[in-house]
Amino acid sequence: MQTSRNVYIETYGCQMNMADTEIVLSIMRDAGFTRTNLLTHADVVLVNTCAVRDNAEQRIIGRLGDFNHYKKSHPNAIVGVLGCMAERVRRNIMESEDFVDLLVGPDEYRKLPALIEAAKEGGKGIAVKLSRVENYDDIIPFRTEGLSAWISIMRGCDKFCTFCVVPFTRGRERSRLQAKVLKEVEEVARRGFKEATLLGQNVNSYWDGAYDFPDLLAAVADVDQSLRIRFMTSHPQDMSDKLITTIASRSNICNYIHLPVQSGSDRILELMNRTYTADHYLNLVRKIKEAIPGISLSTDIITGFSTETEDDHKQTLDLLKAVEYDGAYTFKYSPRENTKAWSMNDDVPEEVKSRRLSEVIDIQRNISLHRNKTMIGQTVGVLVEGPSKKSAADFCGRTDTNKMVVFPKNGDAVGDFIEVRIERANSATLFGTQEYVFHQPPAFITREN
Ligand code: SAH
Ligand code: SF4
Ligand code: F3S
Repeated sequence: MQTSRNVYIETYGCQMNMADTEIVLSIMRDAGFTRTNLLTHADVVLVNTCAVRDNAEQRIIGRLGDFNHYKKSHPNAIVGVLGCMAERVRRNIMESEDFVDLLVGPDEYRKLPALIEAAKEGGKGIAVKLSRVENYDDIIPFRTEGLSAWISIMRGCDKFCTFCVVPFTRGRERSRLQAKVLKEVEEVARRGFKEATLLGQNVNSYWDGAYDFPDLLAAVADVDQSLRIRFMTSHPQDMSDKLITTIASRSNICNYIHLPVQSGSDRILELMNRTYTADHYLNLVRKIKEAIPGISLSTDIITGFSTETEDDHKQTLDLLKAVEYDGAYTFKYSPRENTKAWSMNDDVPEEVKSRRLSEVIDIQRNISLHRNKTMIGQTVGVLVEGPSKKSAADFCGRTDTNKMVVFPKNGDAVGDFIEVRIERANSATLFGTQEYVFHQPPAFITREN
């Protein structure tokens, strides 16, 4: 019997899922499959899913309807649901979406080729066991050419924030060996990537038995001075002085920290099991700003968590104003089955959650606008990423502080590090003109001294 050869994959959710898709593609390639970007060419259709909020799952369920449709015209096609939703919803997906052939959780991707073979014979494959050790250390992710590489340094999460499904979908925290991460960084540098982002649900608790996260970050930055290094996500409780000093000590470690606070109310933070207070957080921010001038900070905020009052909400708004983030990702609380908060009352009405969300967004938009306007007149280093979405005559790229900059094309090319003088700004984007093109690392162009 002829083996099916083309695999089509769609990815939802966070960067860790993007990185996992590259692992899946590597496993599939070794099993003889070719990646296709066209659904109509697919013998195997995979969807790498996210379960973090109900609307993420609903979107995926909607998309599965399209794959059901595809399967009707391509009866031999195999449809597989991978990732966090496969892990969370398990067998129920197979029951409600009976065209799905495979369910494979985040720690079971090595089984994919065998499960696909079995599915071709008409079997249904379910592999959703979580592992304490799987970190795919020996698998070189399938990376297409590009500027930015994702590098998972750990898997899982042990924090158990009461609202969060991730510890249940990704299991216990485990770190990859520093030596393996460094090998991967060397490879992406050799292949010409310009940026590497180290990924983990809480990178600050990285520990491989000998090295902690600051050790790893410094070693990664030293692999190649011309490679920009980013990382996410940092849990505010585990952010050490050593990490702050390390970020300040290497010019190719980006001056950008995503430091989710979730709420400004101590009462809510406690109910969320975030294990810090607003004061602890604000002190941390003060320390970071002192040690790393020009640092850019972003956060995640949840509005309408169980029992959240107007006063709790106001404390979140006050914290946003006190920190002056460069950006915020904002979410309405979405109760997730099996989490601790599932048994608390989801008692904030939908319209109140929405109104509080818009208030958070409005305040943050003004702060971002103000922060961006202070950049006018400054010259910033930018990595050219590609054409601007709005105008073919313009390029766009990012500063090391993760701000998007749009500027007219002027002899520069994607992948160049250039200097741009900022002339205008809105809350999301800086606009300017190019001053110099460097074929040099950002280290040469982003430091004040
Ligand atoms: N590990 C990271 C992020 C995990 S999920 C961290 O700790 O920051 C990304 C964001 O989704 C979270 O920071 C949180 O703001 C949001 N989130 C997670 N679960 C949620 C839920 N049940 N409802 C609404 N937002 C949620
Ligand atoms: Fe979820 Fe909290 Fe872990 Fe982040 S730190 S993944 S919010 S449990
Ligand atoms: Fe979603 Fe799983 Fe990431 S739930 S946010 S894809 S870890």
